[in-house]
Amino acid sequence: MERGPTMTDITEINAEDERSERSLALGELTSTAINDLNGGLPSGLPMPRNLAMVTDPTQRKLVTHFKGRRVPFPVPNGWFVVAESKDLEPGGVRALFYFDRDLVLYRGEDGVARVMDAHCTHLGAHLAVGGRVDANCLRCPFHGWAFDGSSGRCVDVPYGDTKHIPPKAHNRSYPTIERNHMIWAWYHAHDGEPFYDVPEVDEFSDDEWSPILCRDFVVNVAAQEMAENNVDFAHFRYVHGTDAIPENDFIVDGTYKRTTSLDGAFVREGYGLGLGVLRVKGYVTFLSSTTPIDESKVHVRWIFTAPKANGDGAAEQAADAFLSGVSQDIPIWENKIYRDPPIITKTEKLILEHRRWSLQFYSDFD
Ligand code: FES
Ligand SMILES: [Fe+2]
Repeated sequence: MERGPTMTDITEINAEDERSERSLALGELTSTAINDLNGGLPSGLPMPRNLAMVTDPTQRKLVTHFKGRRVPFPVPNGWFVVAESKDLEPGGVRALFYFDRDLVLYRGEDGVARVMDAHCTHLGAHLAVGGRVDANCLRCPFHGWAFDGSSGRCVDVPYGDTKHIPPKAHNRSYPTIERNHMIWAWYHAHDGEPFYDVPEVDEFSDDEWSPILCRDFVVNVAAQEMAENNVDFAHFRYVHGTDAIPENDFIVDGTYKRTTSLDGAFVREGYGLGLGVLRVKGYVTFLSSTTPIDESKVHVRWIFTAPKANGDGAAEQAADAFLSGVSQDIPIWENKIYRDPPIITKTEKLILEHRRWSLQFYSDFD
């Protein structure tokens, strides 16, 4: 039987493609002939691994031409990493784009990091372009108004006889904390208060564990779609070529969820949409944060540590293994659309449960 090009062939053929080039997908489906060499999986499966592609989006294959919204839900409410703590000194100011908004992050002289909307409430200058930290406030580069990033309030208009600061001189601010060597901002579509907490990962400050290793990458997928992978058991075989790790226990409690497998040797905890902590006993602990850039794109940060007893490079090896694994998911995620309702089999009910659980993180859902 004649066989079309495999995904590996396609990846190689298209390795030079620019990310923006979306060639027609004609002739790019794999054949469904049984290939004895891959354990009876349909030919071409599982997906190829390509570690370099995770951090180099130009190596990714995009063929989807779909013009509508790929997902019907907005940016979820939750805690999300916006920077590594080490990257922001007191007095430091950074422009960010997350939650489909321009943001400014700065660290006051008191060492506290603060996040606000980037465009000044006065005449709209970007506060990170020339803005200056003044004590614990951020002074706009355009006319020098000073904003307290904790409340978002304007606290000084430095000219004229201004005694009265207009009450509306207020930039939106975001609750911000530092934990696990990361700066986290709370996003809520309607400015609501945080309704869950960021867990402290004890291993990140334990001398028996290696210093943290942060790997980050951007994927054109919604945080919910990425999280759905964990309850999509069939994909482990067809995308990754492995069986799903059998669960001993699955608990959902409000915004929290936990899966325990292999008699406790493998524990995955979830806090909201896009914050997870995975522990593989004696091998690795890692925290995953998927920060929405917009409703269908995320900035992923995976923060690893490994027992020092496992030797130098143990965290790097674990990171490479997990990144190599996610390289098999990325082409699926970036070309898929959200099917609602999906046509699924009886064994896939957890996917629907996960979708119901996810609803609590949206203020508005189309
Ligand atoms: S635009 Fe910011 S002070 Fe005028
Ligand atoms: Fe996966």
